[in-house]
Amino acid sequence: MHTCTIACIGCGNMGGAMLGGWLAVAAERGYALTGMTRTPSRAAALVARGLSLCETPEEAARQADIVVLAVKPYQVEDVLARMAPALGPEKILISVAAGVSVERLRAASDGRCPVVRCMPNTPALVGKGVFALCFDDPALTPDARERVLRLFADLGVCVELPEARMTAFSALVGAGPAYVFQMMQGLVQAGVTQGFSWAQSRELVATLFEGCACMARQETTPLMEMRDNVCSPAGLTIAGVNVLDRAGLSGLLVDAVLAAEQRGREMEGGKA
Ligand SMILES: NC(=O)c1ccc[n+]([C@@H]2O[C@H](COP(=O)([O-])OP(=O)(O)OC[C@H]3O[C@@H](n4cnc5c(N)ncnc54)[C@H](OP(=O)(O)O)[C@@H]3O)[C@@H](O)[C@H]2O)c1
Repeated sequence: MHTCTIACIGCGNMGGAMLGGWLAVAAERGYALTGMTRTPSRAAALVARGLSLCETPEEAARQADIVVLAVKPYQVEDVLARMAPALGPEKILISVAAGVSVERLRAASDGRCPVVRCMPNTPALVGKGVFALCFDDPALTPDARERVLRLFADLGVCVELPEARMTAFSALVGAGPAYVFQMMQGLVQAGVTQGFSWAQSRELVATLFEGCACMARQETTPLMEMRDNVCSPAGLTIAGVNVLDRAGLSGLLVDAVLAAEQRGREMEGGKA
């Protein structure tokens, strides 16, 4: 027996990742999953796992209790205009479109149903995403919020944020994979320079990041102390750490996040 029908408009990278995560728990949770995409062949792997497809956003929204919008930000208004007649106060609309505010979502959907703005990050593709959820729409009932939180808890970690914090989150965590992959690339290159193969170096560095992330979550020791614990006096690690300090790595990372936040605010203000 299905207890909830979820329709996802847009089955690309992010829509596909979310649908993949929900399909994995659909039987257990009683979810029926529907997708809508302009190129159905792109959703073939999801259809093989139990996704049904609709031909129009309106048809998908009509069947659904929860509608997830995963099209590009510039397509949001067009898709919502076509879907609006099928929306109603008993449904919930969730958008993952970067930079599209609750106000814009409400205006584009004619205020017909409560809306949730969500910001995911790409590790959602492997079930390790962080999802910021903004419940600022006063039309959302406590029950609707609970349903949305339960839905996203199956895909990763959820944090509730007011709209005013969404750009900061996007610059730190949404954009975060780019900073982390760039640091990983530097270390992989170092490994190759030392004579490890590309594949071995990548595997070693990925395991290094995974292990450090686990330690950072499990322990409450300040990160600087954890760093210093690895640096024995006159040892090799402190020689490497000194080079990073001279380059101001921590300050560079702060600057990168603040620059991304600044750009995000410009984009939300309508600057191309
Ligand atoms: N990927 C990320 O890392 C990431 C992170 C945070 C937020 N987001 C947000 O997630 C959203 C989707 O990004 P993405 O990376 O998944 O993009 P994507 O891979 O290009 O997927 C977009 C999907 O929307 C479909 N689509 C476009 N117009 C449509 C329409 N009129 N009706 C139905 N489907 C339509 C596309 O179908 P066709 O392929 O057939 O055109 C495609 O399946 C964006 O708003 C983005 O801001 C993405």
